[in-house]
Amino acid sequence: MLRVVVCVSGGGTNLQAILDAIDNHTITNTEIVAVVSNNAGAYALERAKEHGIEGVCVSPKQFENREKFNEYFLEKIDSYQPDLIVLAGFLVVIPETMIQKYRNRIINIHPSLIPSFCGTGYYGLKVHEGALARGVKVTGATVHFVDEGTDTGPIILQQPVMVEADDTPQVLQRRVMEQAEWKILPEAIDLIAAGRVKVSDGKVIISENR
Ligand code: GAR
Repeated sequence: MLRVVVCVSGGGTNLQAILDAIDNHTITNTEIVAVVSNNAGAYALERAKEHGIEGVCVSPKQFENREKFNEYFLEKIDSYQPDLIVLAGFLVVIPETMIQKYRNRIINIHPSLIPSFCGTGYYGLKVHEGALARGVKVTGATVHFVDEGTDTGPIILQQPVMVEADDTPQVLQRRVMEQAEWKILPEAIDLIAAGRVKVSDGKVIISENR
């Protein structure tokens, strides 16, 4: 069983997609051992509770400085002995010590086709505002491993989504979630659980299903 910790900050619709995929066996051989939020009011924590999964809040605001938070955060994550850490709308910068310790074992979902509309400042609705301002006709979502940069790690899966002429950022965000994020994030977890994802030369290779 792949032991997964999911880190969240908000509504947790991606967390819900993972929970549903485990329940309906789209994801196999996987167990969510904890949900960690930096926001005590995150609805994602409710979703965890409804599933009988431990939900905890660890926020930088609870600590006198960033080092103390980073130390505690890593200890907390370590305590669950995860095989995989999933950032599902987690808005806290991951400490470098954690990235090194969990190299190619932390994945993130980003609501654009990386390398477009990603990096510092591009999160949530801001991504879709950027895409609409540039007038792109196709956007999408990306699941990637987390490295020391912002949205720069090896790309695991991408799914394109069409932009419509009268889209607002909110409408586009919803379509990207429905048509891309809620599919490729569970799919990536299932591929990892099946041992089919390898990183070579900074690129992801997905092996055939045998
Ligand atoms: C998702 O759209 C996710 O792609 C985005 O935050 C949202 C969280 O929604 N993440 C980023 O923008 C990361 N740069 P959710 O809480 O409903 O899953």
